[in-house]
Amino acid sequence: MAPANSDRLREIIHLELGARSYDIHIGCGLLKELGVELTRLRCAGKVGVVTDRNLAAHYLKPVARVLKAAGYTVVPIVLPPGERTKTLRSIGTVMDALVDARFERSSTLLALGGGVIGDITGFAAAIYQRGIPFVQVPTSLVAQVDSSVGGKTGVDHPKGKNLIGAFNQPRAVLIDPATLRTLPEREWIAGLAEVIKYGVIEDESFFEYLEQHIAPILTLSDAPVAHIVKRSCEIKAQVVAEDEREADRRRILNFGHTIGHALESLGGYRGMIHGEAVAVGMVYEADLARHLGYCEHGVVTRLRALLAAAGLPVTLPNVPFRALWEAMQQDKKVSAGTVYCVVPERIGSVRIVPLAKEPTRAWYETVRTRNTGSRQRIPRKKPPR
Ligand SMILES: NC(=O)c1ccc[n+]([C@@H]2O[C@H](COP(=O)([O-])OP(=O)(O)OC[C@H]3O[C@@H](n4cnc5c(N)ncnc54)[C@H](O)[C@@H]3O)[C@@H](O)[C@H]2O)c1
Ligand SMILES: [Zn+2]
Repeated sequence: MAPANSDRLREIIHLELGARSYDIHIGCGLLKELGVELTRLRCAGKVGVVTDRNLAAHYLKPVARVLKAAGYTVVPIVLPPGERTKTLRSIGTVMDALVDARFERSSTLLALGGGVIGDITGFAAAIYQRGIPFVQVPTSLVAQVDSSVGGKTGVDHPKGKNLIGAFNQPRAVLIDPATLRTLPEREWIAGLAEVIKYGVIEDESFFEYLEQHIAPILTLSDAPVAHIVKRSCEIKAQVVAEDEREADRRRILNFGHTIGHALESLGGYRGMIHGEAVAVGMVYEADLARHLGYCEHGVVTRLRALLAAAGLPVTLPNVPFRALWEAMQQDKKVSAGTVYCVVPERIGSVRIVPLAKEPTRAWYETVRTRNTGSRQRIPRKKPPR
């Protein structure tokens, strides 16, 4: 694909963070222009391409080729795929590779992969020689619409997800939606949960767009896919620009995640994948909001219908209240023992409210009554090969 006309097809979103500001570029075929892009970003010398084995099979050779053609020395750092790689041990592996290849302060890291690779690479870039530049090249839908934007980086601890990390903004985010064609279907659909979330928290007309275009989105038509990636990035960039370090407003991005994270942890890292848990979390947080009088019933039915049309799970697995409530306490939105939850007021607007245990238990009883008959268990993910 010729780079010549790509600017016409490219969307650029600016994320304003003062000295840490950067642009998010979205364009089909962008992967073929990474050399030009890095030169434009004034990246010099060596480029460490951090990726996982799945991505390496598809993209490492062509990416290395375009970077070398632009004069860069390329050092590939290939990690095993999956959440289990998001550890301090992998950070050690990246550090070893950078030291061995004599990376300097001016060298660059490039994250070529999903959220796992992006989070690891951003954190490695924050600490190697007290900080070197990095560029995000997200390849999963979750990474393109969520994890690559906003500067949260880090790894998991055996006792909890994302416990170790740093805020570290990339020099740019370069998104080629064409990479989504090789993403496994389950991962693609899970990413749609985060896309739908943006409609609920911020933009009713985007939610309507998703309702009307879910069929061509599911078949990966170029224009609707590029549009949903762009609109999601715009909303995330806007929220992050208003509250980079999650003091307040950024917490609206956690809609669906209080119950979602609880379901993930009850599945012990092997149950639903993140987006699936967030889909169920959004339906039930909306239903809880309806029960508590924050929104109309129509919000829940519309949300459930769109998530189901996208192929996402919408029914709460059979979990005792005590286990669910305890798992909700582990969530990072708990402050001084109170669980805070993002609840919709209508499609396009949410607020953050404290949840008390007894009203939540009363609501849960009604859920259990309605759900008897569909005694669904938390699905087991296939263990990694
Ligand atoms: N930093 C943040 O703000 C933030 C936000 C949301 C999620 N996250 C983190 O992101 C991670 C989840 O991200 P994810 O869903 O991308 O998971 P992931 O990185 O594990 O990718 C999912 C799977 O898809 C594969 N894959 C990715 N892109 C592909 C492509 N184009 N073609 C073929 N295979 C591809 C990967 O190899 C992996 O097996 C979690 O660790 C989560 O904590 C971070
Ligand atoms: Zn999420």
